[in-house]
Amino acid sequence: MWRTACVTCTIGCCKTLEEEKTMAMASMIPLCSSADLVQGGRAVPFDIVYAGQTCRAFAIRYQGQVHAYLNRCTHVAMEMDYQPDRFFDDTGRWLLCATHGATYQPDTGACSGGPCRGGLVKIDLSEQDGVVHWHTAYNLKPLEF
Ligand code: FES
Repeated sequence: MWRTACVTCTIGCCKTLEEEKTMAMASMIPLCSSADLVQGGRAVPFDIVYAGQTCRAFAIRYQGQVHAYLNRCTHVAMEMDYQPDRFFDDTGRWLLCATHGATYQPDTGACSGGPCRGGLVKIDLSEQDGVVHWHTAYNLKPLEF
């Protein structure tokens, strides 16, 4: 695969052209304070445009790391929270769809049980200096006001 130099490397060894394009087009959108995301606790919801449609998304903390997904079950395209912003099961180990009980891994969004068909759509997050940001991508954009 053809490679090109990136910002930190001048010999063209670390990023493909496609990766560079993706990084160049992505931007970071402030989402919430780090303190708003508690292990196994309530999610922080946000709205995004996914593949041209306005959708709900949510961010959670699991094993110290922050993660975000489209709030759309892969069984039937429905929002998953059983109460507003509640996605974790009672054990805090799985993300649960309230409709038919599909379960997903909190750190990857992969289907782990029930009727789900594949994994959740993952949204990149970063956390720095007490602030969590979500990252845009070619198919994930902020709402236009
Ligand atoms: S809609 Fe989520 S399990 Fe059926």
